[in-house]
Amino acid sequence: MLGGPLHDLLAGVNSERSPLDFIAALVRDRRDAIAVEKQKPSGPYGADAGGYPRSFRHRTSFEKPMKVQRAVAQGIRGLSAGWSNSCWIIGPVCIVLLSLFLEGCSGSSVHEPVTLTLLEEWSNKRFGDERQQELQQFTRETGIRVRLLPSPDSARQRLALWKELLGTGASGPDVYGIDVIWPGILNKYFIDLEPYFANEISLQFPEIAASYTVDKKRVAIPYRADVGLLFYRTDLLREYGYREPPRTWDELETMAARIQAGERAKGEKQFWGFVWQGAADEVLTCDALEWQAAEGGGRIIEENHAISVNNPQAIRAWRRAAHWVGSISPPGVVGYREWDSLNVWVAGDAAFMRHWPSAFVDSQAAGSPIRNNFDVAMLPGGKAGRVETLGGWGLAVSRFSGHPHEALELVRYLIRRDVQVKRSQVLSQPPTLPELYNLPEVLEPNPRFDLLSRAFRTGTVSRPSNVSGEKYQDVSDAYIQAVHSVLTGDKSAPEAAAALENELVRITGFKTGPPSGKSAHSEQISEPAR
Ligand code: GLC
Repeated sequence: MLGGPLHDLLAGVNSERSPLDFIAALVRDRRDAIAVEKQKPSGPYGADAGGYPRSFRHRTSFEKPMKVQRAVAQGIRGLSAGWSNSCWIIGPVCIVLLSLFLEGCSGSSVHEPVTLTLLEEWSNKRFGDERQQELQQFTRETGIRVRLLPSPDSARQRLALWKELLGTGASGPDVYGIDVIWPGILNKYFIDLEPYFANEISLQFPEIAASYTVDKKRVAIPYRADVGLLFYRTDLLREYGYREPPRTWDELETMAARIQAGERAKGEKQFWGFVWQGAADEVLTCDALEWQAAEGGGRIIEENHAISVNNPQAIRAWRRAAHWVGSISPPGVVGYREWDSLNVWVAGDAAFMRHWPSAFVDSQAAGSPIRNNFDVAMLPGGKAGRVETLGGWGLAVSRFSGHPHEALELVRYLIRRDVQVKRSQVLSQPPTLPELYNLPEVLEPNPRFDLLSRAFRTGTVSRPSNVSGEKYQDVSDAYIQAVHSVLTGDKSAPEAAAALENELVRITGFKTGPPSGKSAHSEQISEPAR
């Protein structure tokens, strides 16, 4: 049983539910995931075999009064000892809670500069370092300091942490990065940004800006857009006689199988045709939605609120993906999140990878074995065209912030044109302003950004977060479980789709109905591949 100073510290942060309960719940989740994670590839990026996200290993900048720090360190050690295997999540969550607690203790005087706290996705060291540079520049311009908090790697765990922190009503973090699918879930905790950013919003991709709006309230302002893409090895395509990347999922299967067989015959025993993200996490919703929407299998719940997921096209698309597992994709792909697939891909062990645009940076980094031997294309399509899931992040201001004025300034800075340009150059994060896609300084380091601006206008499918509102997490969890059970062979696709349909009716109260004729913005296959 944990006692002493850490318990007192943590208990003070949330009176309704102890953060320790929260951490314990995350630990339970983690234990469930461990069996699958053991099959994962190790590599330089993200959570790896050490069971501790790499991104956290580099974070040492929480400089606090020594006495408190020592007490807390002891407490954390006690906690970790009790939960061996699980320290990777305990560490970060404790750091966040501790940081917030100390923020409260420090009681800023009128003469001290304001220090804001910012919590957002933090994908790796390169990203963290770059964001720190942006924040230092903000401090130079405004005198306002910003403390960047760490966050877990998994999208589901991030949402759990965000909800827990916002639920405490604490004054920090002041600014939150939020995933494009969270506005309906977290709406009540944030201020309406419309009155402060009307001009900036009018310059953004309208579809993307709309995704952060709930009942006309601007819950967040997008600062980076995201979309699923196909990465492919140009050297291997050439070697096996292919002039272009696959335009359909059928073509991808054939090409992946052939290249894999050829590479294996040369002795590359670890080589796989296609890597993607099959872990039971939010990213599986993104991948599977792309497969089914491209076949005309709809978007799980349609914009008219019809639950459409139990249909033959979706079933066929899931079934096809299940056949990939162990044939053109590694058996462990059912445990892969983004970093796992990137590790296989950057090691040169895959012909194709589905990923987000920012995977370009690590693929093209100095020393990458595949540098200059890969390219990026739109995802293959099916009967209904080519479809990519819209992802991305926006910035929201907590309604509990003690510094709303400064918090708004930080948002204004992080979405600013020049800051987005620099971010796209260094991190390949797609800007949210259409006009930037014509700039040579953006296109030169990101030669395929022309594809993205097309996709943001015409080729994306949104997850059903706007129609599901607060219930989106339950909807997505149910979908993830259903698709995952098909991928692992635990259920047949028709069985999983029927059970999911019932579950979604129960969760939302909506009626069932057919998928809408075409995915909202699908791009037809007849268009030549780029
Ligand atoms: C990326 C996307 C986000 C998505 C997440 C899933 O961060 O931008 O929208 O939910 O991946 O892991």
